[in-house]
Amino acid sequence: MLFSKIFIDMENARWNLSKDIPWDKFNADRLSDRQLHGIKMNALLEWAAVPAVEMFLRDNPNDPDFAAFISIWFFEEQKHSLVLLEYLRRFAPDFVPTTEELNEVNFEFDRASPLESLALHFCGETRLNQWYRCAHEYHDEPVIKHIYTTLATDEARHARAYFQYMQRAIQKFGDTARLNFAKIGVLMTNARLNPALHPTNLHVNKELYPRDTITSRLPDPDWLRRWLDNEIKFDVEWESKVEQGILGNMSALLSQKFKTSADLRQYRKKLEITGNNSVRKEIEACSA
Ligand SMILES: [Fe+2]
Ligand SMILES: [Fe+2]
Repeated sequence: MLFSKIFIDMENARWNLSKDIPWDKFNADRLSDRQLHGIKMNALLEWAAVPAVEMFLRDNPNDPDFAAFISIWFFEEQKHSLVLLEYLRRFAPDFVPTTEELNEVNFEFDRASPLESLALHFCGETRLNQWYRCAHEYHDEPVIKHIYTTLATDEARHARAYFQYMQRAIQKFGDTARLNFAKIGVLMTNARLNPALHPTNLHVNKELYPRDTITSRLPDPDWLRRWLDNEIKFDVEWESKVEQGILGNMSALLSQKFKTSADLRQYRKKLEITGNNSVRKEIEACSA
């Protein structure tokens, strides 16, 4: 069971919302309304862990080890939202989201492949770690700077936990898992296709399309793109950190060296051909 070890790792790294955030260091002169708007949108984005948890529990019905891990992940993501909400409550109450705005990002996700969801969240956490490092550099106000570093560290731990479940999935499901992970790895390292590659930006409910991404349900649906490009300035250098983080981990996971997204795409193609050949051989053997 992975949960027992992950639980201890996460418990050892846990921070206290009241005691470990330097609330008394707040400096109002180092903060703009534009930045407060970003903090509000970010609090809403973090609040959206609820439907992801419902999806994970629904789509992994026979996996109590993973469900147990999700209980901690859920707790920590809600805490991320709460610390940002608390920041707004203390220092900029006009920016606290309304109950309606919080409810709007809670909607049901369609069923999805559990292996793809796992890889998506691993990549998402890896990306979020870099977004928050970048947000830490962008902000000048000491308390929010501290919060973004704290969140970035948590997101990196989440990525490591999801990675361990991916390793376990390869032991259990072999090439099926490899193929799913390579597919998502290619998608999530292709920033030219969609530069805001994160689960909160993916369409997850056909009936609600096009308002079926988390970001599309924010009070400011274009915020994330603008925040990345014009505010925190998440440029190609940052993007390459995300890409190298994902490719480095995919290399370790799949025992191959992937320097670029194209290498991973090539690997995926080979795996598909091998898979098709073995299916063909099975069909030939049956009909012989
Ligand atoms: Fe988070
Ligand atoms: Fe996270």
